[in-house]
Amino acid sequence: MKIGVFDSGIGGKSVADAIEQALPDHEVIFVNDSQHVPYGKRNPQEIFGFIVPIFQKLIDEGCSVIVVACNTVTTTLIEQLRATFSVPLVAVEPMVKPASQLTSSKVIAVCATPTTLASPRYAELKELYAKKITVIEPNCSDWSGLIEKNELTKAEIANDIMPALQQGTDVIVLGCTHYHWIEQEIAEIVGNRVVILQPEQALVSQLKRVIAQLA
Ligand code: DGL
Repeated sequence: MKIGVFDSGIGGKSVADAIEQALPDHEVIFVNDSQHVPYGKRNPQEIFGFIVPIFQKLIDEGCSVIVVACNTVTTTLIEQLRATFSVPLVAVEPMVKPASQLTSSKVIAVCATPTTLASPRYAELKELYAKKITVIEPNCSDWSGLIEKNELTKAEIANDIMPALQQGTDVIVLGCTHYHWIEQEIAEIVGNRVVILQPEQALVSQLKRVIAQLA
């Protein structure tokens, strides 16, 4: 089976690698949007216009399922995309629910793009799962663009997430797939008393369930 994997940029590459490793019998076609990355501060309808031809091309190339490896797209556009395309879309979104279940301090931090943090779906996730939890949203607004250029320094990351740690955060949600590439730096900054959640394995499990239904 051909599996399309889409992200604005290199965040999706790590997701595609994880899928290839977990499902070696399938063909993974990874595409990004190098012309318009980063998406993180863009308007959802503008993003929708960029994505439609890319998804259509993946379907024309024979993909039976598309993995939306971009929180910014999922939290703003997944319903519109599902109404537009008939193949199943397996999508990533910030892991607010597991973070809320894991935290002892009742303080979590969600690192995500401005467009994700402003989305109704993200507000809904907080309403559903984090009503009794303090959710801190560090200023990560430039992270994806800098990661794309390999220019985000450990000092900048530390500066952006330190306030959340000082407020008692014990779980950090990586709510943008680009942050896979700085997970190690974050881990070194926060130490081992803070849990870092990133979605690749959950996404792979969901993809396996969808593929089993298609087979
Ligand atoms: N990797 C994407 C996400 O998960 C988008 C980052 C961006 O393009 O700004 O949100």
